[in-house]
Amino acid sequence: MNAANELDPQEAAAREAALAHVKAAEKTAAQIPVGNATPRPIAQAAVIGAGTMGGGIAMALAAAGIPVTLIDATADGLARGLARIRDNYESSVKRGKLDPALRDERLARITGSLAIADVKDADIVIEAVFEDLALKQGIFRELDVHAKPGAVLATNTSGLDIDEIAAVMKRPADVVGAHFFSPAHVMRLLEVVRAAQTADDVIATLMDLGRRMGKVSVLARIYPGFIGNALFRNYNREAHFLVEDGALPHEVDAALKDFGYAMGIFAVHDMAGNDVGYQTRKAQMATRPTDRRWNDLIMKLVEMGRLGQKSGKGWYRYEPGSREPQRDEELERFIVEESARLGITRRPISAEEIVKRCVYGMINEGAKLLEQGVALRASDIDVVYVTGYGFPAHRGGPMYYADQIGLANVYEDVKRLYEAYGYWWKPAPLLEKLAARNGRFADL
Ligand SMILES: NC(=O)c1ccc[n+]([C@@H]2O[C@H](COP(=O)([O-])OP(=O)(O)OC[C@H]3O[C@@H](n4cnc5c(N)ncnc54)[C@H](O)[C@@H]3O)[C@@H](O)[C@H]2O)c1
Repeated sequence: MNAANELDPQEAAAREAALAHVKAAEKTAAQIPVGNATPRPIAQAAVIGAGTMGGGIAMALAAAGIPVTLIDATADGLARGLARIRDNYESSVKRGKLDPALRDERLARITGSLAIADVKDADIVIEAVFEDLALKQGIFRELDVHAKPGAVLATNTSGLDIDEIAAVMKRPADVVGAHFFSPAHVMRLLEVVRAAQTADDVIATLMDLGRRMGKVSVLARIYPGFIGNALFRNYNREAHFLVEDGALPHEVDAALKDFGYAMGIFAVHDMAGNDVGYQTRKAQMATRPTDRRWNDLIMKLVEMGRLGQKSGKGWYRYEPGSREPQRDEELERFIVEESARLGITRRPISAEEIVKRCVYGMINEGAKLLEQGVALRASDIDVVYVTGYGFPAHRGGPMYYADQIGLANVYEDVKRLYEAYGYWWKPAPLLEKLAARNGRFADL
């Protein structure tokens, strides 16, 4: 806590309190309304899809001491997946993070297969194939045939409607969302998603399995993006609007880093690849509503070949062999031209406005999630944000942060932003209600 020690005492105390909140919130997240339901025993697992996520999930299960059958449709896919797992273990051993004996133990727990019928002994099956509803429904139809009675059947979908997956099953009560984060063997967050018919003991099982894998499990309900990506959409959207309105990527990133993020959003995009999600978004663009503002800058960057670090340029430029973002005049000129093309008069934007627009959009969305019961409690949203999305822990999470600022203050700003920018800023009724009575999210 050296950094905190250098702060003035009041700020240091505020940070300590926020960190204590996060710690307590992680414990509270385990308390879920499942009546007397107890976890089903999990001694054996199967993962379907040996890609990025499937491989990481298999590693997380192996680390928890659970033998796992990793199943892919193609010999190539399986071989690549198993090789990636071996490479991951190897690099951990090389970095001194993993004992070679433990590596051997864990590797021995992971068995590859090309036959979905090999799920037959699994107490839990976690599906992580491509994000395609028909494909996943096909897998779940096969699980109905091959999985043993009472097996928990989980999908790692990022955004498909889990009810539509459960609908093809004769046993929809066994179906649940298990939203892991990438890399799944490293990231601590697990969103457990309750579908309409998910049984209480299935929820209890997955929450407990998360704990055994060393993860923090947070219960959510079906909603576009569940908890984490629902908030992230707002954060991301405002960051891009800010760039159209007058800020440059390095200014947005500097403000976010100053707030406490380890990386700014544009540096993150460049690291992940600006082309992630390009096809999905392209498809959505054709049918999206026309009554609100959209931002397609990132699509244009992809079309210009600005994929990020991997192409040497994105929101920034990169010297060969370096991951250090450098301002790029060509990109900045393009941004200024885009604003002009959209008829936007660019203006200087303060760091305070940047942080407000990025963070308050999340807070307002968080209030909607609470209202609709997507998240059980405000502190669960904080846990998701701190453990899965890099929100600075010393700010306690977006909802805690809002409580510290005072919901009446947050509401005033959200209302003002709604008047200025419309649709996306419509204040959540819960935020308005709490603001009016001087309430806090924490007291809900
Ligand atoms: N990558 C992420 O950051 C991330 C994060 C959270 C959730 N997800 C979700 O996880 C799922 C998998 O994503 P990914 O990034 O690991 O994809 P990926 O493309 O890396 O891997 C998918 C794997 O599924 C295999 N596969 C395809 N059809 C199959 C079938 N019929 N039977 C068995 N295996 C089959 C493929 O061969 C491939 O190995 C998606 O639903 C995605 O939305 C991804």
